[in-house]
Amino acid sequence: MQMAVTRRPLISGNWKMHHDHIEALHTVRDLGLRLKPEDVARVDVSVHPPFTDLRTAQTLVEAEGLPIALGAQHCNDHDRGAYTGEVSPQMLARLGVRYVLVGHSERRQLFAMSDELVAATLRAVIKHEMRPICCVGETEEERGAGRTEERLGAQLEAALAGLAPEVVATMVVAYEPVWAIGTGNAATAVDAEDACLFIRQRVAALVGEEAAAALRVQYGGSVNPANAADYMAEPDVDGLLVGGASLDAATFVEIVRASQPVARRH
Ligand code: PGA
Repeated sequence: MQMAVTRRPLISGNWKMHHDHIEALHTVRDLGLRLKPEDVARVDVSVHPPFTDLRTAQTLVEAEGLPIALGAQHCNDHDRGAYTGEVSPQMLARLGVRYVLVGHSERRQLFAMSDELVAATLRAVIKHEMRPICCVGETEEERGAGRTEERLGAQLEAALAGLAPEVVATMVVAYEPVWAIGTGNAATAVDAEDACLFIRQRVAALVGEEAAAALRVQYGGSVNPANAADYMAEPDVDGLLVGGASLDAATFVEIVRASQPVARRH
């Protein structure tokens, strides 16, 4: 798709349920030592630790001025209330969280997060001036049945319907094929590009060309230092959502270095 804007890549580390707050302290510190100014001059980096690590990570990032945006993996769609065990977007915003994953396939599959709840959570994150990373992706079965685009389209429609174009322009969508997550069975760069382009085109149809051109679309699923540059060379892949390979600071920094925009084709 022809672009009027240059999108700044976003490389995000989703730690899932790994690293306690002491391990988080070491990992974020290690990241801070390894990331050089040139690594982050043209690329944004976010880390998404478990909730119990966020305060520790925030303190370190702010005290040291580390070039890392704080992210969360999920949140409730209400500001406060009787929601035992949940964490509100307001609480995250107060901690300096900038990006929140919304509708990760593990939330959808293991915790029954519906398309409606994804939409409500997106709006709650936006209300508190954080940026949602809205995760979409097809299962192996859907892919086998040739229903990838239908699934992606339905997830996007449910998530984005009614949002203002200027809001969508600041969002991130992560294309994460479920069969590629944590399996070592990464999508090919061409397949990732096809899906990311489809996502952009669908957003253009739903919200408008301008928002679609500004929106960042990440690929996620078994990303590692050896395959990162291939994805990032594709014109509609604007970043990576990295799970397992983000747990080790040295490996994650290799991915950030492989994701520099000079390698991109457009
Ligand atoms: P993975 O996870 O990199 O370990 O495949 C990606 C994700 O779930 O965000």
